[in-house]
Amino acid sequence: MSAVAPTGRERRFEPSELLVSKTDPKGRITYANDVFVRVSGYTLPEIIGQPHNLIRHPQMPRGVFRLLWDSIGRGEEIFAFINNLAKNGDHYWVLAHVTPTRDRAGKIIGFHSNRRVPEPAAMTRVLPLYQRMLDEEKRHRKASEAADASARLLADTLTEQHLTYDQYIWSLIDPSTASRAEVA
Ligand SMILES: Cc1cc2nc3c(=O)[nH]c(=O)nc-3n(C[C@H](O)[C@H](O)[C@H](O)COP(=O)(O)O)c2cc1C
Repeated sequence: MSAVAPTGRERRFEPSELLVSKTDPKGRITYANDVFVRVSGYTLPEIIGQPHNLIRHPQMPRGVFRLLWDSIGRGEEIFAFINNLAKNGDHYWVLAHVTPTRDRAGKIIGFHSNRRVPEPAAMTRVLPLYQRMLDEEKRHRKASEAADASARLLADTLTEQHLTYDQYIWSLIDPSTASRAEVA
């Protein structure tokens, strides 16, 4: 993980731009497009071969990544709002879509992700939920227990609202797809 301290400055990119990366099955980066490289602030050689947590922001709930890895490990795709850390400590929020890549036999041989600018309205709704997850994580000393607890909090919160995670995310991406998404 990057040891750089967050600056609190937000880095922006265009709504027309996609930040693309690919990884091996363990999450080590095998490909990054020009936009990913530019926004991350790293050079391509600094990125290739690194674990994807190179750009992990310390204020991202562990429970989100727990859900991400559980989903793609099962061979499912996932959308998630992720705060990323640039090399100099600036941050940039993305709406990430992560998908497994399979060989002809159906075996997962890596993962692919593209990221775009999230809608400000979606961010306003997701941030209080992430804060609750972070608060829950602070109650646990072990990272794995913190991830378990916050993933459980996310699952319980959605269950109370009678929403699956996908329904919740889609209600944020496109509010016309769901009537209720006041989860926070
Ligand atoms: C294809 C793919 C894309 C990923 N994209 C990101 C990303 O944009 N930002 C991020 O912090 N983690 C991303 N991850 C998750 C990281 O592998 C890692 O789980 C996360 O940064 C949390 O790091 P930690 O498990 O060391 O706490 C991605 C993983 C995969 C497989």
